[in-house]
Amino acid sequence: MTDAAQGLVLDAVRAGYGDTVVLEGVSLTLAPAATLAVLGRNGVGKTTLLATIMGQTTLRGGSIRLDGREISSLPPYRRARLGIGFVPQEREIFRSLTVEENLDVASRPGRWTLERVYDFFPSLSERRRNRGNQLSGGEQQMLAIGRALMGNPSLMLMDEPLEGLAPVIVEAVLRGLDRLKREDDLALVLVEQHARIALEFTADAMVLDRGVVVYAGPSQPLLKEPDRLARLMGVARAH
Ligand SMILES: Nc1ncnc2c1ncn2[C@@H]1O[C@H](COP(=O)(O)OP(=O)(O)OP(=O)(O)O)[C@@H](O)[C@H]1O
Ligand SMILES: [Mg+2]
Repeated sequence: MTDAAQGLVLDAVRAGYGDTVVLEGVSLTLAPAATLAVLGRNGVGKTTLLATIMGQTTLRGGSIRLDGREISSLPPYRRARLGIGFVPQEREIFRSLTVEENLDVASRPGRWTLERVYDFFPSLSERRRNRGNQLSGGEQQMLAIGRALMGNPSLMLMDEPLEGLAPVIVEAVLRGLDRLKREDDLALVLVEQHARIALEFTADAMVLDRGVVVYAGPSQPLLKEPDRLARLMGVARAH
């Protein structure tokens, strides 16, 4: 892929926290509107990968390019302005602000507006005057996703958006994400513990084991070969 290529390119990225290196030589390519599942057991570095793309870790080597531009020395807010949206594992919505205020503070001009976010997540519309601390877990998750969309990203990183949600809420969030995939040209990176759901949702997948990529390729083969998936996800146990 040339420097002028559109989308996100990570090349041999080493990163971690201070002196601790978590990711060892991670490479990936994500075209515009592409979908990528990031799988792996607890603690293998999935969150660290998203945080590294966002600029929240210590980069020790390699490069990160967005639409051909090296972004690895830019602070997180500059990366956000270039079009990277982030839905963190802890959601991190403003609990003392209303739903609408949470959405408004994140707003940047573009195709995503309050109306469109409410159309995607109708329960947010019903709760627009409620404060963050009055929302259920599912509503908080929809708000975290809606807030990221209000920044009008070209690439969205989602860290376990289904974690801790009741099955009926998982369905509602998935409906929103499914529509997002069909009606927007956003690229999506989905970190998930629910491997099957993530693989069904995405075209491509990456499995991490202790900071190293042990699978990078299409999602479908892993769905069709559950034993292979289990092996990839369980590699850590063998050591
Ligand atoms: N702020 C931090 N400082 C130092 N080490 C950290 C920090 N955050 C995470 N780590 C370590 O980095 C490694 C990878 O953690 P990370 O949170 O990226 O894993 P994960 O795959 O997202 O796990 P989970 O599935 O539990 O969310 C772990 O060994 C973890 O202890
Ligand atoms: Mg994590």
